[in-house]
Amino acid sequence: MTYYVTTPIYYVNAEPHLGHAYSTIAADILARHMRQRGEDVFFQTGTDEHGEPTALAAEREGVSPKELADRNSARFRELMPKINVSNDFFIRTSDPEHIAKVQEVMQRVHDNGHVYEGVYEGWYCPRCADFKTESELGPGNTCPIHEIELERQREENWFFRLSSFQDDLERLYEERPGFVVPEFRRNEALAFIKGGLEDVSLSRPNLSWGVPLPWDPGQVMYVWFDALLNYYTSLSYAREGEDLTDRFWPCDLHVLAKDILKFHAVIWPALLMAAGIERPRRMVIHGFLLMGEKKMSKSLGNVLDPFEVIDRFGADPLRFYCFREVSFGQDGSIAPSGFETRYESELANDYGNLASRTLAMIERYRDGVVPDAAPDAALAGGEDGLEGISAQVQELLDRVELTQALDAIWRRVRRLNRYVEEARPWDLAKDEGEAERLDQVLYSLAEGLRVVTLLLLPYIPETAEKLLDALGEESRELAELGSRGGGARIERIAPLFPKIETDA
Ligand code: MSP
Repeated sequence: MTYYVTTPIYYVNAEPHLGHAYSTIAADILARHMRQRGEDVFFQTGTDEHGEPTALAAEREGVSPKELADRNSARFRELMPKINVSNDFFIRTSDPEHIAKVQEVMQRVHDNGHVYEGVYEGWYCPRCADFKTESELGPGNTCPIHEIELERQREENWFFRLSSFQDDLERLYEERPGFVVPEFRRNEALAFIKGGLEDVSLSRPNLSWGVPLPWDPGQVMYVWFDALLNYYTSLSYAREGEDLTDRFWPCDLHVLAKDILKFHAVIWPALLMAAGIERPRRMVIHGFLLMGEKKMSKSLGNVLDPFEVIDRFGADPLRFYCFREVSFGQDGSIAPSGFETRYESELANDYGNLASRTLAMIERYRDGVVPDAAPDAALAGGEDGLEGISAQVQELLDRVELTQALDAIWRRVRRLNRYVEEARPWDLAKDEGEAERLDQVLYSLAEGLRVVTLLLLPYIPETAEKLLDALGEESRELAELGSRGGGARIERIAPLFPKIETDA
């Protein structure tokens, strides 16, 4: 089975911030998890380089759009390994292959009769690269996202007949109730469609930084058409000499935040219908990371630089924190002090201690070899028992419940710690007559730790890899409690989450 997952492609008008890292890590968690399940995964991220946001930012900095795009796209690309993201491809919409493919698809949309020439008059936000309806405007004709005053624009455009897809879109939503998750976002998109769709601008005159319309090269494509198509175009050139389109299209999952819901949940499926291309299977809409009360965003000047956070805490703690602290799908505030607390109490204390105690006791009491025994029923069953945990997490991740899945795993980490306290292996070790019982306890601990660590791998890949190696586990496939016998040789390792320097 194949699994194709994407992130939004990010604007290059500014450097990456933690909000961009967040969506990308979400997609990475799913990609890694699916690889563990043996799926043939393709995971893509990249940069959205055309259009006014980039052209304007370049002008402000006195460089060409391409120069700015090269510089900032490189920053996004560098971010990926820094946050332990395992993307299979990084698309740039300035790639010549992308541009050619976009033109090919849009020519089809044109030839199928879904475009016409007209005059656009209305409000336009150059930062969103989006036209705003009267009802979307903030006080004083401002952009509700960027809080800047908008100008009324009038221009000759080509239009895309979005309105003619109203019925088809309603049918799509009816036939596929899970097309957009979570459900409240699906309802929002459907309400927007049912409210009546207006045609949308497809091109802009007087802009040079973009993809020229093949049938009217004097106009460049409105950046969203060029951008949305990235999910499709890349498959034709991501692997040299190979076209991956048949293998991976339709895409299994688009990950994005609520700010770009309308483009993905309304315009994108309509555009694909117009071009005669299959629709993606599903999209998941998450909330915003907030700093205090406000969305973290470059234009509001309240961003956390992921590079700095990682230098202090490491990538895995950042990944863990984002999905533990903020319930995936909802908005949620984050703060450096919150990182510190979760790092100490959960990563270092709950998990790090469990790992070092388990490894140390196997070393001390069993010469570094995991004894052979059956899993302790006390650990397998009961509240937060480990039995069936992998199946449960798979089910949650199939529903893209990233925070709930992590919570299910974490409850087992805590259960394992309680198990150590209940079973008291240090007392058992003092009594020869308890040797078999000690075997069972140590086996159950090593086995439980192995199972939860395999499940944690998508969230904290670097740490999990280290610990699985130390547990003598070579496979990365998901496993249930008791599926590996004894006999593995373990290794002692340095603390997984050492004390960090704090500002205080
Ligand atoms: N280029 C368009 C997307 C085109 S996709 C075909 C764009 N770019 S963007 O740089 O503005 O990125 C927006 C996306 O970045 C959001 O949808 C979200 O995935 C992520 N985030 C940006 N700021 C964020 C937060 N503060 N919190 C969570 N995610 C955020 O829109």
